[in-house]
This record gives sequence, C-alpha cells and structure tokens, in this order.
Amino acid sequence: MPDALKLLTTRRSFKPVELAGPAPSATEIDTLLTIASRVPDHGKLAPWRFIVFEGEARALAGTAIADAFRAKYPDASPEHVDAERTRLTRAPLVIAVVSRAGPHAKIPEWEQVLSAGAAAMSLVLAAHTLGYGASWITEWYAYDRNVLDALGLAPQERIAGFVHIGRPPGRPEDRPRPPLNEIVSRFSG
Ligand SMILES: Cc1cc2nc3c(=O)[nH]c(=O)nc-3n(C[C@H](O)[C@H](O)[C@H](O)COP(=O)(O)O)c2cc1C
Repeated sequence: MPDALKLLTTRRSFKPVELAGPAPSATEIDTLLTIASRVPDHGKLAPWRFIVFEGEARALAGTAIADAFRAKYPDASPEHVDAERTRLTRAPLVIAVVSRAGPHAKIPEWEQVLSAGAAAMSLVLAAHTLGYGASWITEWYAYDRNVLDALGLAPQERIAGFVHIGRPPGRPEDRPRPPLNEIVSRFSG
C-alpha cells in the first residue's frame, strides 16, 4: 500500500498528555503551517488563521485559561484551577486553528467554516506524516469569551480546534469506525 494511503487508513488521535517532547523544530512548524494553509478555500478568502503556542507561551495561555475558569466557577478548588493552568502544556506544541468566517457577498459563511475544518485536518495529517501524533480538541476554553479575548480573537472569530502535537507513545489501539453501508448510499434516481 502506498505510504500516504497507509497513513490515512491507520491515523488515530492521541490524548494530549501522551504527546511528548521535543517539539517539532521551527522548520517543521513552518512545514505544518504551510500544509495547513493549503486547503480548498472558495473565493480565496483565507478564512482562517493560526496561533502557535510553544515553550513558555503555553503556560502564559494556561494562566488565561485558569483565570477564566476561576471567573466562571468562583468556588472552584485551587487544585482544580491549577489543573486548568496546564491545559496547553500537556503537549510540547499546540496550534490553534481560528475560523475567520463571516458574511460575504458571494461565499456562504458555511463554506468558510468548512475550510477551517479542512485546515485543521490537514494540520493533523501533516503532523502524522512528519512522525508526530496529534490531538484535535476544543474543550470548554475554546468557547469562553474571556479566554478568546486573552488569546486575541476578534468578536467574529472562533476556535476550530487546538491541535496538540508531539511525539506519540507508540501505536494506539484502533477504534470501530462507522460501517460504510450505514453512511453511504448510492443515488439511483
Ligand atoms: C472540532 C472538533 C473538536 C473536538 N474536540 C474534542 C474535545 O474537546 N475533546 C475530545 O476528547 N475530543 C475532541 N474531538 C475528537 C478528537 O479529535 C478525535 O477525533 C477523537 O478522540 C477520536 O479519535 P480518532 O481521531 O482516532 O478517531 C474533537 C473533534 C473535532 C473535529
């Protein structure tokens, strides 16, 4: 089987905590971002952008997440708040895919959103191709306005995913996939 097909048929997500350092190099990160931005994009709007969290910046973002958590749940225990602080330090590299979709005269917003999903998936596949594991997650903080403000998102921007990237622990167990006969039909008029 060609390498690309093997990769596509065996890819699995990892938990962020399973993804170890060292992080991808600066050149590898450029490769990941170049591939993630090479996606179908109706109208060539680039309706997405990327925020890279690496090194100490991951902990800084974690502080914003912990602060937002405390604001949301003032009675939360200090231990729980501290756990929230580690959200972006579980993996050595996190890349947020930000959707910039919005109203447009010709291009439906829905298609712009889909393009951001394509960017996130290309990022995941590029990471796997380079030998890293990846985890495309959102979790609660992707939807918290205080966190989004701290990360610099404009009011109409949304997080398509925080893609966590690092070295995988090994081969993950597979999981059942939907049988094709349940999700595929053939139009017959
Ligand atoms: C937009 C989006 C957001 C997701 N957010 C989460 C999440 O917050 N937590 C989680 O456990 N999985 C989340 N997932 C699912 C994982 O990315 C992954 O698909 C799942 O763990 C199954 O693993 P697999 O990719 O090996 O099938 C999300 C997937 C998508 C497409």
